[in-house]
Amino acid sequence: MRPKVLITRKIFDEAIAIIKKHFDMEDNQRDVAFSPEELVRRLRGKAGTIILLTDRIDEVVLSQCPDLKIVSNIAVGYNNIDVQACTRHKVMVTNTPGVLDDTTADFTMTLLLATARRLIEADQHLRSSQWNGWKLMEFLGSDVHHKTLGICGLGRIGQGVARRAKGFDMQILYTDLVRATQSVEKELGASFVDKKSLLAQSDFVTLHLPLEPATTHYISKPELALMKPTAILINASRGPVVDERALVQALKEGKIAGAGLDVYEREPEVEPALLLMKNVILAPHIASASHETRLRMAMMAAENLIAGLTGKRPPNLVNEEVLSS
Ligand code: DGY
Repeated sequence: MRPKVLITRKIFDEAIAIIKKHFDMEDNQRDVAFSPEELVRRLRGKAGTIILLTDRIDEVVLSQCPDLKIVSNIAVGYNNIDVQACTRHKVMVTNTPGVLDDTTADFTMTLLLATARRLIEADQHLRSSQWNGWKLMEFLGSDVHHKTLGICGLGRIGQGVARRAKGFDMQILYTDLVRATQSVEKELGASFVDKKSLLAQSDFVTLHLPLEPATTHYISKPELALMKPTAILINASRGPVVDERALVQALKEGKIAGAGLDVYEREPEVEPALLLMKNVILAPHIASASHETRLRMAMMAAENLIAGLTGKRPPNLVNEEVLSS
């Protein structure tokens, strides 16, 4: 009998086609997330699943789905999965690293440029027929070129942002738990500084950290207080890395000048005050959303699932220890 698998949300036909060659598949073309109860109901009896970051896999789910052997997440971040619990239940966890770095770095620059140059505000002004001709003093934003960019987290995406920022002649500072090698620093023209110095010196601060207990509210009231009143905060990592209420307060009090956000603390909810702020650009978690990249992510997730259920080591296994436990 072929193993049964569950695809929890709508994915590309190309990925469905390779999954169907190996497994009996149940999918969810309605593309609305299952409630936790429905997720458990549908996962029972399944050997594997492909999920999105809106699906939570934890002890409660795992203890009710003893047939589950692999959870394949279509995302590089996997804070929606309790990996330790998966390992205890001998469930493999996989993600989709690498394929979305450039696309996410492109979008980070998009947010940065659009926020600095007030693009959305200007577009809305024009579309609402308010524009009545060129003015010297209209929609003045901030320059990006030759400014200082502070990158928090110089992983693959952070490095991609640095490479792009170099093209804008920006001065690049970074902070991270571990300092990059000299050759990486040289290639990117990036200087390592501590978090406080980065916040105090940067004109733009961009976050590229995984969400874990140590990075939750990495930017909160004290950090925002250190930033320049002209600074702009960019977040395309995970929402809870920023204390959204503290951000609203800092923006209201003019402690910083603006923000470009792709992610939120309680997605899909957004702090209502942010919706009213013209100096904030709000995107609906789309940093990796190019057709090419999302297709690659889905194919990678399908390949991880197939490998895991056909006796091979999935290429992007997160909990290596599950194989020896
Ligand atoms: C991820 O992969 O973690 C993103 O947030 C979605 O691309």
